[in-house]
Amino acid sequence: MSDLAGQVAIVTGGASGIGRAVAVLFASKGCRVVIADQDARRGVEVADELKRGGSADSSSTEMDVSSAAQVDALVTQTLARFGRLDILVNSAAVYPPLPSLLETPEPAWDQVLSVNLKGTFLMCKRAIAAMVDQGSGAIVNVASIAAMKGTNYSVPYGVAKAGVIQLTKAAAVQYAGRGIRVNCIVPGLVDTPMSRRSMASSEEFDRFVAQIPAGRAGTPEDMAALTLFLVSKEAAFINGAAMVSDGGTMAR
Ligand SMILES: NC(=O)c1ccc[n+]([C@@H]2O[C@H](COP(=O)([O-])OP(=O)(O)OC[C@H]3O[C@@H](n4cnc5c(N)ncnc54)[C@H](O)[C@@H]3O)[C@@H](O)[C@H]2O)c1
Repeated sequence: MSDLAGQVAIVTGGASGIGRAVAVLFASKGCRVVIADQDARRGVEVADELKRGGSADSSSTEMDVSSAAQVDALVTQTLARFGRLDILVNSAAVYPPLPSLLETPEPAWDQVLSVNLKGTFLMCKRAIAAMVDQGSGAIVNVASIAAMKGTNYSVPYGVAKAGVIQLTKAAAVQYAGRGIRVNCIVPGLVDTPMSRRSMASSEEFDRFVAQIPAGRAGTPEDMAALTLFLVSKEAAFINGAAMVSDGGTMAR
């Protein structure tokens, strides 16, 4: 698959899980990666890992995607440093386990929608403004199969992820003519700190895995490979797509 030599990417949530795997893979393809994460310590650890791997220009910025001011500062600083922004991957999200609609407090609803949906909106809006000026760009948002079915686990999470899919399609349609592609990946269960935290025990995790036709959970590297494909020139005609990668879960 095509390399990303000379390109500049921002990866939100790049300090952990899927975002971290995307940052590692992109850097290995010659991309200069800006990790944007509220977890400053892990962000620096991943950036150091990328530098040790030969990506000297990669870096980490502590920020909150739900803050318009911090989103603006992140993109402005990236443009000041590199003079361009080719790729945005929006992986940052939260998943507080919320048993049912009646047990979902209003502040929890607001937090999930604010980070998972508004954060993706703010990042897309600021990045697309830069990409329009540049005349090119590729964005990959991270949705979830929780957007596509009713679940017992977290109402606001699925609602936010459904919004991410719609945001992806709207942005794709509106900016296709300006050289910008906006797609999203739709993961099923992926073995990451988030999914492990959301389960009561490793036995519960294994029970979920047993429901997956592929017989295993996805890996962050599975998601990174799909993300790389979507930003590559091989995917030049793919725009507004919601690409499910779930080991067959939704096909059942
Ligand atoms: N793990 C799964 O099974 C699964 C399934 C479907 C979709 N997803 C989605 O994949 C993406 C990555 O999830 P993951 O499993 O790698 O989770 P993770 O918890 O390992 O990583 C998420 C990262 O986002 C960061 N983050 C959280 N809130 C932030 C904020 N306000 N501003 C900046 N950074 C913030 C965290 O610090 C963390 O580093 C998320 O969008 C998640 O909803 C995950």
